[in-house]
Amino acid sequence: MIAKIEQLLQEVAALHASNAEELEALRIKYLSKKGAINDLMADFRNVPAELKKEVGMKLNELKNKAQETISALKEQFECQNNDSEGLDLTRTASAVKLGTRHPLSIVRNEIIDIFARLGFSIAEGPEIEDDWHVFSALNFAEDHPARDMQDTFFIESHPDVVLRTHTSSVQSRVMETSQPPIRIICPGRVYRNEAISYRAHCFFHQVEALYIDKNVSFTDLKQVLLLFAKEMFGADTKIRLRPSYFPFTEPSAEMDISCNICGGKGCPFCKHTGWVEILGCGMVDPNVLDSNGIDSKIYSGYALGMGVERITNLKYQVKDLRMFSENDTRFLKEFEAAY
Ligand code: DAH
Repeated sequence: MIAKIEQLLQEVAALHASNAEELEALRIKYLSKKGAINDLMADFRNVPAELKKEVGMKLNELKNKAQETISALKEQFECQNNDSEGLDLTRTASAVKLGTRHPLSIVRNEIIDIFARLGFSIAEGPEIEDDWHVFSALNFAEDHPARDMQDTFFIESHPDVVLRTHTSSVQSRVMETSQPPIRIICPGRVYRNEAISYRAHCFFHQVEALYIDKNVSFTDLKQVLLLFAKEMFGADTKIRLRPSYFPFTEPSAEMDISCNICGGKGCPFCKHTGWVEILGCGMVDPNVLDSNGIDSKIYSGYALGMGVERITNLKYQVKDLRMFSENDTRFLKEFEAAY
């Protein structure tokens, strides 16, 4: 029996196969249930007791060698297959899919571009702000309803710290550190304690503009508003200003544009009025200039602020505000061609 094992060991050491079928035939010949090694295992019962140890060890050696050799051959075939059949160096590369810009970023960039052409530069401020920059420096009375818990997110352990409710807070940040001429545009995210629905969210985006210099008048503001509306929504766009109230501007106004969905004829979007409101604006209140270290006897200025979601809705008619923050790639892909 030892002689038989030795002979098989020699055979196994010299095994070779040139394709997968040959290899499988070898596996059957040596390692299958009816293979040579199993036959020897069956004969092992008849080996005299004093030889069992020696024969057993040899038999195990044979079995291990056969398994090793056959799996090494198998691996070799798999590598060869990958090299020769799996790789085609002449194939054209598959196209790289580029991501698309978020619609709010597209519109924010457009707003910034229009103001940049008029000489405005970008200013930014923190989203976690103090009460002074969001409210007090902007002439909000102590008991103004905007400070109410319903609107503003306060930080529980620090009653003076809030999530900014508007980007107007950047106005006071810039005024306290620079002197006119000031011509800035402040894009950013703001937070309000609103129940989330298709038309309200607890965070959204605004762009604020501020211009302070000598002799700035309401006429300058109106001219910039008209130019902005035409650049953003098309040359036929009309604007109208309605008197309004904001603590930080006097006089204050809200601006409507002719509804760009129905062209001013009236539709559900403009509630059949032909007009849609897009921003708040006004002349910076002298109190605000003085509170922030700018002499209101020498300088005057205008400010305006708009919601980016609102402008985006008007441009692209997104019916549900929540789409903007859901990261649904099917929605985002629709804006592939927009920039
Ligand atoms: N901060 C106002 C808001 O969040 C928008 C606004 C109105 C900004 C009038 C201004 C402005 O600069 O002059 O509703």
